Amino acid sequence: MTGPLLFRAERIAKRFGGFTALDSVDFEVSAGERVGLIGPNGSGKSTLVGCASGSLRNNEGAIWFEGRRIDRLSPHKRVRAGLVRSFQLPRPFRGLTIAENLRVPLFFAGRAGRDSRAIDEALDFVGLSARRDTMPADLTQVDLRKLDLARATVAEPRLLFVDEAMAGLSQSEVDEILALLMRMNARGVAIVMIEHIMRAVTSFSQRLVVLVAGRKIADGDPTKVLADADVQRAYLGE
Ligand SMILES: Nc1ncnc2c1ncn2[C@@H]1O[C@H](COP(=O)(O)OP(=O)(O)OP(=O)(O)O)[C@@H](O)[C@H]1O
Ligand SMILES: [Mg+2]
Repeated sequence: MTGPLLFRAERIAKRFGGFTALDSVDFEVSAGERVGLIGPNGSGKSTLVGCASGSLRNNEGAIWFEGRRIDRLSPHKRVRAGLVRSFQLPRPFRGLTIAENLRVPLFFAGRAGRDSRAIDEALDFVGLSARRDTMPADLTQVDLRKLDLARATVAEPRLLFVDEAMAGLSQSEVDEILALLMRMNARGVAIVMIEHIMRAVTSFSQRLVVLVAGRKIADGDPTKVLADADVQRAYLGE
């Protein structure tokens, strides 16, 4: 079920030097919604996630989360407000165990002090309890993705941007991550899935948004969006 408007980016522009990575992009997410964000390589998807999460600063436009303007807030303040991202390349802390890795986002989210129970719950939720004392180097690719989702979980997000959490995984591993994201969503977390694996993103998403060369060219019902001639030409036909 989707609820009231949770996140709104309005006329976002982001430039890197003279290059325009995002050009007047509007992007909205409702509470509890599952949105797929697709587009060819270099179309600006991760840049949009960066502007939303605060690792990048938009040059133009404005971003609201739960009615509050956030586009000049630091990344950790956005996390504390409930806006969390995962990264395209997992970045665990190599010198820390799996459980210790989760202390860092807890601290970042302002929840240190309640840590051991929250960590146990997150590890259990993603199915990594048995590996809590393992080092990241000993995890498989799919378990690293689960660790990344556990790190997101401990921050108690209301909105999660998942930037290509399934790249390089087998079909059954893709299904595991999909099921995990569906369970997060069932707990009320709105999720924006950035993904090139079309089977995964179309089965997951209630709405699809398509970026091409920094511009939004479609936004709506997945079946209609995928049937759109512009989308087929610009994206699927490439
Ligand atoms: N920090 C940066 N400095 C300069 N250019 C950048 C930077 N980050 C991204 N870009 C450029 O902006 C464009 C959009 O990149 P972005 O990473 O947002 O694409 P994407 O849609 O996530 O692609 P992919 O599907 O390959 O992950 C690309 O041309 C990229 O080279
Ligand atoms: Mg990207």
